[in-house]
Amino acid sequence: MARPRVFVGVLALSAIRLTSASTNHIFSAHNRRQSIPTDLPKPWTYVGCFVDNAHGRIVTNQQPDNAQLTIESCVQTCSAQNFTVAAAEFGVQCFCGVELIAGAATAPASDCNMGCGGNTTEACGAGNRMSVYSTSKNLTILPVPVPQNSSIPGSWTYQGCLMEAVGSRAIPWQNIYPTNNSATTCLGQCAAFGYTAGGMEYGEECYCGDVSDVKAAGVGFAPASDCNLPCPGDPIHLCGAGNRIQYYTWTGTPPYVWHTPTNIGHYDFLVPGVVVPLIATVGINGKVTFLEKSGTSEFDNSTGAYELDLSLVNQFNKAWRTMHVKSDVFCSGSVVLPDKGGRILNVGGWSLDSTQGVRLYTPDGSAGVNGTNDWQENFKELALQRQRWYPAAAVLANGSVLVIGGETGSNAAPQPNLEILPKPPGGGTVVELDWLARTDPYNLYPFVFVLPSGRIFVIYYNEARILDPKTFDTVVQLPNLPASVNNFLGGRTYPLEGAAVILPQHAPYTAPITILTCGGSAPGAGIALDNCVSITPEGPNPKWTLERMPSQRVMPCMVPLPDGTFMIMNGAHQGLAGFGLASNPNLGALLYDPSQPVTQRISILNTTIVARLYHSEAILLPDARVLVSGSDPQTPNFPEEMRIEAYYPPYLTQGFTQPSFTITTTDWAYGSSHPIVVHLPKGSTSTMKVSLIAAVSSTHGNAMGARTIFPAFSCSGTTCTITAPPNAFVSPPGWHQLFILDGPTPSHSTWVRIGGDPGKIGNWPNFPDFVVPGV
Ligand SMILES: *[C@@H]1O[C@H](CO)[C@@H](O)[C@H](O)[C@H]1NC(C)=O
Ligand SMILES: *[C@@H]1O[C@H](CO)[C@@H](O)[C@H](O)[C@H]1NC(C)=O
Ligand SMILES: *[C@@H]1O[C@H](CO)[C@@H](O)[C@H](O)[C@H]1NC(C)=O
Ligand SMILES: *[C@@H]1O[C@H](CO)[C@@H](O)[C@H](O)[C@H]1NC(C)=O
Ligand SMILES: *[C@@H]1O[C@H](CO)[C@@H](O)[C@H](O)[C@H]1NC(C)=O
Ligand SMILES: *[C@@H]1O[C@H](CO)[C@@H](O)[C@H](O)[C@H]1NC(C)=O
Ligand SMILES: *[C@@H]1O[C@H](CO)[C@@H](O)[C@H](O)[C@H]1NC(C)=O
Ligand SMILES: *[C@@H]1O[C@H](CO)[C@@H](O)[C@H](O)[C@H]1NC(C)=O
Ligand SMILES: *[C@@H]1O[C@H](CO)[C@@H](O)[C@H](O)[C@H]1NC(C)=O
Repeated sequence: MARPRVFVGVLALSAIRLTSASTNHIFSAHNRRQSIPTDLPKPWTYVGCFVDNAHGRIVTNQQPDNAQLTIESCVQTCSAQNFTVAAAEFGVQCFCGVELIAGAATAPASDCNMGCGGNTTEACGAGNRMSVYSTSKNLTILPVPVPQNSSIPGSWTYQGCLMEAVGSRAIPWQNIYPTNNSATTCLGQCAAFGYTAGGMEYGEECYCGDVSDVKAAGVGFAPASDCNLPCPGDPIHLCGAGNRIQYYTWTGTPPYVWHTPTNIGHYDFLVPGVVVPLIATVGINGKVTFLEKSGTSEFDNSTGAYELDLSLVNQFNKAWRTMHVKSDVFCSGSVVLPDKGGRILNVGGWSLDSTQGVRLYTPDGSAGVNGTNDWQENFKELALQRQRWYPAAAVLANGSVLVIGGETGSNAAPQPNLEILPKPPGGGTVVELDWLARTDPYNLYPFVFVLPSGRIFVIYYNEARILDPKTFDTVVQLPNLPASVNNFLGGRTYPLEGAAVILPQHAPYTAPITILTCGGSAPGAGIALDNCVSITPEGPNPKWTLERMPSQRVMPCMVPLPDGTFMIMNGAHQGLAGFGLASNPNLGALLYDPSQPVTQRISILNTTIVARLYHSEAILLPDARVLVSGSDPQTPNFPEEMRIEAYYPPYLTQGFTQPSFTITTTDWAYGSSHPIVVHLPKGSTSTMKVSLIAAVSSTHGNAMGARTIFPAFSCSGTTCTITAPPNAFVSPPGWHQLFILDGPTPSHSTWVRIGGDPGKIGNWPNFPDFVVPGV
C-alpha cells in the first residue's frame, strides 16, 4: 500500500547562526543562542526544530545515550547505519531514521535550546524537542499512525487493541521484527503457516495463533488509545504497545478445514507384547516381525527379535516366536527385499561391529504354525562398508539397496555418505555427500523415494534434493522445507523426527508424484511442528505447500492405508526424538486424504489411552487394521510400553462386510495382466478400487519402502484383470499387499511381487552359512 505522505518541502532555516563559538558554555537547558555546525559531511544539513512525543516518537531508532553527544557524532552514528535523518534531543539523545513520523510538527527554533552534552555551543534539542538534521531538506513527515484496517494481504480484519495475558501469551507464537514489523509482515507470516489470529505488540513483536488461543487466554480489549506505537516497518500504522496487541483475525475462507466425522474408528487392545520393538515389519508370511535393541532401561531378557502370529493373539503363549540377532540393532534401518523370499534386510546398529551389521530374515511359517527360519548374520563375512547408527535403506529401481547416512555410533561423528548393497567383489560403493556432513546431526534416517524419472528424492533435516541414480550427484536442490511460524531451523528427520510418505500413484501414472511430510520439531526447546508440507519435486516450479495439523506432533508415524489415505498417529506434542526428550503425548489419530483439496485433507479420528512416544511404530496389517506398538521413552512417568494395539480405521467401523478376492498369479512382471475373482458384499465392480501397498519396515517415523499404487483394472462379471505398473521407476521392484475396495471398505490383502528381482539380490550373499531364497 502506498503510504500517504506529507512533504514539508524546503523548510525555512530560521535557526540562529552564531558567528563565534565559545568554549565556555556549560551544558544546560537555559534559553541560549546556539550554533549549527558547518562541518557536517555533505549532503547533511539542518532541517529544523520539531515537537517530539505529541503522538509518539517522531524518529524511530533511538541510539544509546551519549554524555559526549555532538551534532557531528549523532550525524556520524546515523550516517554509518545508512539512515538519512539524525535528530538530537535533550542534550544527550540521538535518534536515527529515514523520515519523520507520528505527524511531527515544527516548533519555534528557539525551543531547541539545550546544549549538546559534548559541545554546548551546539543545540541538541530540548525536552520533547528534536534538532533534526537530514541528507535532504525535502523531508517526508508521516501522519499520526492509526490501526491498519484495509489493504492487508489475505483476509484479515482488525479487531481492536487486545490486552496481553498475564504470565502467558494471548497469542502463542512470537516473532520479533525490529525493522520491518507491520500488519503486512506479521499477518503475512501468520497466514503462511495457517494461523487465524495474529497481532503486533510493542512495535516490533509479531504474534500468531488461533482465535481459540485468545479465547483460552480469557483476555479482553483495552481502550483503542492504549495501542499507540508505530510499526517499525510501517510507521503510519500502529503496532500495539507494551502488553497491548493490535489484534486481527482471519475472516476469509478458512485456511484449512479439519473434518470431524462421526465415524472415527477405534483403538483396541491387540495382544500383550514381550519387548518394546524398535522396528516393525509385516512379512510376506502375514506375521509381524519385530526387532528390539539390546535390552531396555528396565528389562534385559530379550533376544532382540520376535515374530507375532496375528492368528494367535488370543493365545499369548503361542502367539510370539522367539528369534535371534547376533548384534545390537539399536538404531538400525530395515527394508523388505524384492527377492523371491521377501527377505527382510536390517542394516547398521550400535556399537562397534553392530554398526556395520547386515542381518537377513526370510519370513516363513503360516497362520498358526511357527516358522523355523531365523535372522542370519555373520559380521566377518558380510558387513556394511561404513559404521552406521540411524541409516535409512531403500530398494533402488535396479533392485540394489541404497543405505544412506547415519553416524559412526551413538551421537558420534557423522557418516555423511551412502553405499550400495550388494557390494561388488573387490569394489567399494561408498559415495560421500557433503550435504549430509553439513546438516549433521539433524538429518538421521533421511527419507528416500525413487521418482518416476528414476532419480532419487531425499529429505534430510529441513532440506530436500533430487539425486542422479547412478552418480548420486545432486540434480536439483529444492527449496528448504518450511518449519514453524517462528523458527525456520525446525526439521523433519531424526532427532527432529517427523514422518514422510509418497502420495498415491494412479494408472496411467502420468501425473508427477508428490511427497508429504508431517510433524517434526525444532532444535533446542523442541517445539513440535503443527504442520504437514508437501512438494511435487518433478512438477513445474516445485515448492512446498503447507497444511496445518490440528495439533503439534513430533515422532508421528504415517501409515499408508489401502484406500489411498494415510494415518498420522503416535508421538508427542512437545520435544524431540530420543530418550527422555519428549512429553505430553499426542493420543489422537488423524487421517490424511490426498483425494480432498489441499487444506481440507485432515480428519480428526479417535484417541488412544496409551502414550506412544520414542520408539513407537504403526504399520498396516493384512486385514487392513493398523498395528500400533511401543514406546521406549525413558521419560519419567511414561512406562516402557509393551502393549500392542490395533486401530480400526473408519473404513472398518461403518458396519460393512469386507470384500474378498482370489488370485492365482502373485509374481508380476511390469505391465503384465493378472485376473482376480472378486466378491463384493455391498457394491459392484463399477465402484470397486484396487490398490497395491508396498512392503514397509517402520522405524522412527520412517516407513522405509512405503508406496501406494492404484493400478489399472477392468472387470467382466466378477472377474477383474489388473495391469501391473509399467516399470521400475513408477514402482521399484518389490513386494506389495494387494487390496480391493468395495466402495470404501477394503478386503484382506494378498502379497504380490512386482518387477522380479532385477539385481539378483536373492542370490546374495554367497556364503555357506547364509541360506538364500534365490531370485
Ligand atoms: C563545538 O561546536 C561548534 C559549532 O559546530 C564548533 O565550531 C566547535 O569547534 C565545536 N567545539 C569542539 C571542541 O569541537
Ligand atoms: C550502507 O550502504 C552501503 C552501500 O549501499 C553498504 O555497503 C553498507 O553495507 C550499508 N551499511 C549498513 C550498516 O547497512
Ligand atoms: C520532495 O520529494 C518528493 C518525493 O520524493 C518529490 O515528489 C518532490 O518533488 C520533492 N520536492 C522538492 C522541492 O524537491
Ligand atoms: C479504518 O481506520 C480509519 C483510521 O483509523 C478509520 O477512520 C475508519 O473508520 C476505519 N474503518 C473501519 C471499517 O474500521
Ligand atoms: C522482516 O525482517 C526479517 C528479519 O528481521 C526477515 O527475515 C523477513 O523476511 C522480513 N519480512 C518481510 C516481509 O520483509
Ligand atoms: C473411540 O474409541 C473408543 C475406544 O475404543 C470407543 O469406545 C469409542 O466408541 C470410539 N468412539 C467413536 C465415536 O467411535
Ligand atoms: C521381559 O520381562 C518383562 C517383565 O517381566 C516381561 O513383561 C516380558 O514379557 C519379558 N520379555 C521376554 C521376551 O521375555
Ligand atoms: C512358537 O514358538 C514359540 C517359542 O519361540 C512358542 O512359545 C510358541 O508357543 C510357538 N507357537 C506355536 C503356534 O507353535
Ligand atoms: C544399481 O545402481 C547402483 C548405482 O549406480 C549401482 O551401484 C548398482 O550396481 C546397480 N545395481 C545393479 C543391479 O545394476
